[in-house]
Amino acid sequence: MAHFIVNNNIKPFPLILSLALVFLFFHASSCAAKVVEVEEICSKTGDISSYCKAILNSKPGGAKGSDIDSLAQFTIEVLRSNITNTTTFLKSLIARGGDPDLLDVYDGCLDNLSGDRGALNEIDRMQQSLKARSYKAVTTGLNKVDQDNADCFNDFKDPALRDPSALPQYTRQISQATAIIKAISTFWFSI
Ligand SMILES: *[C@@H]1O[C@H](CO)[C@@H](O)[C@H](O)[C@H]1NC(C)=O
Ligand SMILES: *[C@@H]1O[C@H](CO)[C@@H](O)[C@H](O)[C@H]1NC(C)=O
Ligand SMILES: *[C@@H]1O[C@H](CO)[C@@H](O)[C@H](O)[C@H]1NC(C)=O
Repeated sequence: MAHFIVNNNIKPFPLILSLALVFLFFHASSCAAKVVEVEEICSKTGDISSYCKAILNSKPGGAKGSDIDSLAQFTIEVLRSNITNTTTFLKSLIARGGDPDLLDVYDGCLDNLSGDRGALNEIDRMQQSLKARSYKAVTTGLNKVDQDNADCFNDFKDPALRDPSALPQYTRQISQATAIIKAISTFWFSI
């Protein structure tokens, strides 16, 4: 076979490339992401399991029969809209003015969520990593989002700061979305 090809002056590189592509194609199709029941995923989310079920079952087309990667894609979009809503809310709080110490914290939160190195910037990268099945990279992005969000709500642990706004509900929903993606992620790393 190889002898025949060389005699016909066909460069071997394209052949190797096409064989590699054929291999990749079959390899990819033979390990499609698995299907896990919503119940089973959400059983790993502790006290937010009913919220988890409500979110996953709201996936367009339904969650039934969806593989874990498409559930993760969907939940990352929920996370994106939760972060976006939170930044819109922070901007409205800042525009309203008031206690300068509180405004400082709101500014920091806005930076943590939507600044150049903020949580929102992780979302596209996470989606791309997920499409490429670079699951570890998705987890890294997720941890960064958690850290940014925690930096925001931890600031309010200072007892001198009394935040009368609804911000805690917003940040809680960001944490809940990341918790659901983490529950899904356990199935990426288990056989
Ligand atoms: C987060 O997303 C969920 C699902 O779309 C929605 O029900 C909830 O209101 C959102 N929360 C925030 C703070 O955006
Ligand atoms: C967040 O934004 C989405 C899209 O605009 C909206 O459907 C949802 O109700 C919002 N949630 C909150 C809590 O603002
Ligand atoms: C969050 O913002 C504060 C204030 O800008 C900053 O000190 C902190 O490093 C940020 N946290 C992260 C994880 O980027």
